[in-house]
Amino acid sequence: MFDVESIRKDFPMIQNHKDVVYFDNGATTFKPKQVMDAMMHFYEYGTSNIHRGDYPLAVNADKAYDEVRKIMAKFIHCNENEIVYTAGATAGLNQVAYGLMHSFLQKGDTVLLTKAEHAANVLPWFHLKEEYGIEIAYIPVDEQGRIILEEVEGMFDETVKVVSIAHVTNVLGSVQPVKEIARIAHNHGALMVVDAAQSVPHMKVDVQDLDCDFMCFSAHKMCGPSGVGVLYGKYDLLEKMPPMLVGGGMNSRFQSVGTVQLKHAPIKFEAGTPNIEGVIGMGAAAEYLMAIGMDNIHAYEVELRNYFKNQILKLDNIELLNKDNEGAPITFNGKGVFAQDGAAYLATRGIAVRSGNHCAKLLHEIIGTDGTIRAALNFYNTKEEVDRFIEAAKDISVENAIGIFF
Ligand code: ALA
Repeated sequence: MFDVESIRKDFPMIQNHKDVVYFDNGATTFKPKQVMDAMMHFYEYGTSNIHRGDYPLAVNADKAYDEVRKIMAKFIHCNENEIVYTAGATAGLNQVAYGLMHSFLQKGDTVLLTKAEHAANVLPWFHLKEEYGIEIAYIPVDEQGRIILEEVEGMFDETVKVVSIAHVTNVLGSVQPVKEIARIAHNHGALMVVDAAQSVPHMKVDVQDLDCDFMCFSAHKMCGPSGVGVLYGKYDLLEKMPPMLVGGGMNSRFQSVGTVQLKHAPIKFEAGTPNIEGVIGMGAAAEYLMAIGMDNIHAYEVELRNYFKNQILKLDNIELLNKDNEGAPITFNGKGVFAQDGAAYLATRGIAVRSGNHCAKLLHEIIGTDGTIRAALNFYNTKEEVDRFIEAAKDISVENAIGIFF
């Protein structure tokens, strides 16, 4: 049974900041004690490098590190050798763009994005445009950032080789029809890349069901530590793709003439000493979420978001920008109030939200503003917190926002 009050006890940040309503979960999430304990246990009892030592401590570190691949494979439903540990979604998307440019894409090929993407899923492709002459085109989205599915087929011609989109967009929380788009992309011989940073923490994600070719996400948005994440790739594609980073651990031999023999995927993508304790924390986070149940988490968050939406729609001073999106964030502005001033006012009432463009710097072309306030929920939030938010949001006004500066 989903018991939010008992879940909240697992999170020291909630217990230690009872005065704060934390709705900045799209930026990062709090970590449960179970994650911290797993990492501390490694620090206190297990510290050793991995894949390098023959003594018992090192062998146990190998096991702990490699075991997480099984956990993450279960989490998104793939094989463990399709799980590459990365520094996070940004690192994963950069690796995919680089790797595809050196194995699959050619000058003049087109990559399809949307204007609702986070910088991490735009700038690596811009880099390919600048350096290698690939083209970029944008699949149309509506005013709530949702891909207009009927328009997708018409975007394809023989130059389109990759589609790269967010599963759930980071500002408006649009849940994109990834499965349908993957099918269309594959019919045209194109690959499907998914930025799942904002979906994996909130719903059951099955890469085999979606049939995407690559998927990237970060641990810190799913109750795990920062600086670690996963790049999923279909194994044959990972094997064909070269690594962006080279160094120790990922090669089997190299010779003085400059030749290198790489290890197989996923290890060939993990150059240097990795974030071992981060990987262990990520595994603990995925186990924590799976123990609650991703379907339970999703159902609770949908109900909480609906409650939030119905309350905020009653406020005349607020414009809600994403009322029909099922994803976690509630994104809005105080009428006539600069977004950052609105967020700063909410902060004076103990509410933590993010404001600005949220790194999605093409989205203003769709929604007509570069500044919004985002209240991103997580499964440890409550209706009481929403009520507290609503009481504060009622008072967002130009006068109150200016008042905080005097
Ligand atoms: N990508 C994170 C966000 O959307 C930081 O806030």
